[in-house]
Amino acid sequence: MHYPWWYVPVITSPMLIAAIAVLHVLVAHYAVGGGFFLALETTYAYRTNDREYLAYLRKHAQFFILLTVVFGAITGVGIWWTIGLASPLATELLIRTFVFGWATEWVFFVLEITAAFVFFYYWGRLQPRTHIAMGWIYAWAAWISLVLITGITAFMLHPGDWLQKRTFWAGFFNPQFIPQMLARTGGAFLLSSLYVYLHASITCTSERLTNLVEQRSTRPALLGAVLILVGGAGWYINLPDSAVEAMFSASALNVFVGLIFVATGLVFVLLYLGPFRNPGWIRSPGFAVALLALGMIGFGTSEFIREAVRKPYVVYNVVFGNQVYAEQSELQRLRDGGYLEGGVWTRQYVRHNFPQVVVGAMQQEGGSSGGHIDRQRLLELPPEDRVKLGGVLFQYHCNDCHAIARGGYSAAGPLIQGWSRAMVRDLIDNLHTARFVMPPWCGTPEEAELLADYLMSIAPPRPAGMEPAPTMQPAQRQADYRQLSGEAQLCGEAQSGAAQ
Ligand code: HEC
Repeated sequence: MHYPWWYVPVITSPMLIAAIAVLHVLVAHYAVGGGFFLALETTYAYRTNDREYLAYLRKHAQFFILLTVVFGAITGVGIWWTIGLASPLATELLIRTFVFGWATEWVFFVLEITAAFVFFYYWGRLQPRTHIAMGWIYAWAAWISLVLITGITAFMLHPGDWLQKRTFWAGFFNPQFIPQMLARTGGAFLLSSLYVYLHASITCTSERLTNLVEQRSTRPALLGAVLILVGGAGWYINLPDSAVEAMFSASALNVFVGLIFVATGLVFVLLYLGPFRNPGWIRSPGFAVALLALGMIGFGTSEFIREAVRKPYVVYNVVFGNQVYAEQSELQRLRDGGYLEGGVWTRQYVRHNFPQVVVGAMQQEGGSSGGHIDRQRLLELPPEDRVKLGGVLFQYHCNDCHAIARGGYSAAGPLIQGWSRAMVRDLIDNLHTARFVMPPWCGTPEEAELLADYLMSIAPPRPAGMEPAPTMQPAQRQADYRQLSGEAQLCGEAQSGAAQ
């Protein structure tokens, strides 16, 4: 919350990260697995002196470099842009904790790119031994990049001992590191075989060649599938409780988990039916496209879930999803001093736009400085200003996980459709107890009032025809309601208590 806010309409900024990350991993894993494919297969082609296969591999290398280096690098930089803007506090923490990890990763990235270009552009001009060596340098450098990035990203899901030790290695070798490294290595092998099938089905000219490519790529695909299963099981076992609960409590994620099983199950069935039983199938681009598409669906969905279960934390136990440190002292500071006062940008925003709520400020040219936001004066603002400031609170405190209006991602307006103001106000006080996936409220009661005003202003009305029956008097309706449900009665009393 010490950063300016980046408002992304409809999908919210973290979902934009998820979308770009999913696109990126679909290519980044091929960048690793495809490297091993090219290194291993050029070795094999030179050894068997198979000119035709070598010529095919050269074509594949061109496709590979174009896709992985160009698209992979663009989306990779895209991830940095989006996380820096959407999740600045978590990004800052990752940079500070792992600065040498990033630097090392960058060195391997440069090595990787250099080896890839030499491997492709000097094709036919290098001694076979040197050429093969370039292929292997590329493959291992790409894999080491994968390992380094996995250690750092897995840290966000479960920092493990780092919480006590605060050292680089404690953070890097977190409980999620080995499982995710295995699953990603497996994903790299499986996905690259699927890319190879597709590329071969379109470009291979002879039947012998297609059969050879297919036969050579099927074992890595199966090895990959096994690694994914082992790594995936380890991922699940080492999930923090809150992530397991977050996965099963959200209906959309349940559907996604089902989708992963269906998509990966189909990939297995098709691998068995195609390459194993009916090798000719792979010559049809339609079949190869279907296989790759299913692989991408399974892969993309698992990546999405990996991002989506990190609630209420973006870095487990360290940073909340709304960019607030998950420390008691930080929560207390914001609750005592106020959320608006507690953030660098919100404080300036209020000083600039609502100087009338700041007391003790020194007037200067271009605005005021010093002083503090007076709680009582917040409540004295005219209704439209209360809603406006409530909107600022919403952006900083809620917009990471909730869009605003209908059609948006987990939009707050529709979530509270039909709620009374007292219910909304009550939820704000009890965010984390009502839904453990939400961080606790970190503002003053007065700020909660402004946020409630804002939320009421974005809630859609009840649909036409859903109004309570006009013949029934409200008082009687309430009496019926109380008789029906003891729980409702408790709720009603809490509300009338809050309204007083
Ligand atoms: C870290 C993510 C996160 C943050 C931050 C967050 N929420 Fe939520 N919230 C959720 C999730 C997840 C749900 C469950 C969504 C669902 O059931 O569709 C939820 C549910 C809700 C609901 C529905 C509750 C119910 O009982 O049906 C409301 C209303 C809501 N949030 C409002 C807010 C408000 C207001 C804020 C800011 C003060 C906020 N949320 C901040 C993640 C978050």
